[in-house]
Amino acid sequence: MKLPAEVANSLLFDGVDGTGLEIAAQALRPLSFRAGQRIFEAGDEGHALYIIQRGKVKISHCNLDGKEKILAYLSPGKIFGEMSLVEEKPRSASAQAINETVLYTLYAEEYWSLIKRYPRVAHNLARVLAQRLREMNHEVEVLTFEESRGRVAYALLKLYRHEFGEPTRRGRVLPLTQRELADIAGTSRETVTRVINEFQNRGYLRSETGQIEVFDPAGLEKVLYDLE
Ligand code: CMP
Repeated sequence: MKLPAEVANSLLFDGVDGTGLEIAAQALRPLSFRAGQRIFEAGDEGHALYIIQRGKVKISHCNLDGKEKILAYLSPGKIFGEMSLVEEKPRSASAQAINETVLYTLYAEEYWSLIKRYPRVAHNLARVLAQRLREMNHEVEVLTFEESRGRVAYALLKLYRHEFGEPTRRGRVLPLTQRELADIAGTSRETVTRVINEFQNRGYLRSETGQIEVFDPAGLEKVLYDLE
């Protein structure tokens, strides 16, 4: 079996030669999920990591009141589930398929034998974790110091840069409700509505029921970095 391009090009296999990719292809198992299907829940045992070949995955966590915090939306080529695999601890968050999704699964035993032959794969996994920590540090800064406009701008930019949604002629359409955006930005739905109306008047985006089309990420960056 040959690995699909989205999987072969993921950061996990960066710098791995053709023979390594063939060995990885034998170790990886494709798994399909329907739209809305749960992949795993926070607290589950986890013995595998996943690489997204097709579809979108939501990573989220619920607090004690049952309120959902969306941590990330992941697109093809992205990896998740690696934390339980390397730490041998329960899943730190829940994962759900947003639409029809195909994942390539790498079980722990296969991962350990792969990194013995290709230590580069372990180094790449460390890069994935470093990237995420860098992003989370930035997010903590935004949530600590930014007012609602900065938070909403940050949440939209994060989704835009992670290639969530679909490209359009003028930008990118993000399929999410204002309620979901509020959960990502850590603010209320009413505040999101007010900020989105302002961003719409400035021409940064257009909001319709269940979706937001972003035209001007540079404009959102100016909001975030107070350059207006
Ligand atoms: P694991 O703990 O095995 O299961 C949940 C997964 O969600 C976790 O591994 C990571 O792969 C992923 N994850 C957790 N937190 C974040 C985050 N802040 N951003 C992106 N992915 C995350």
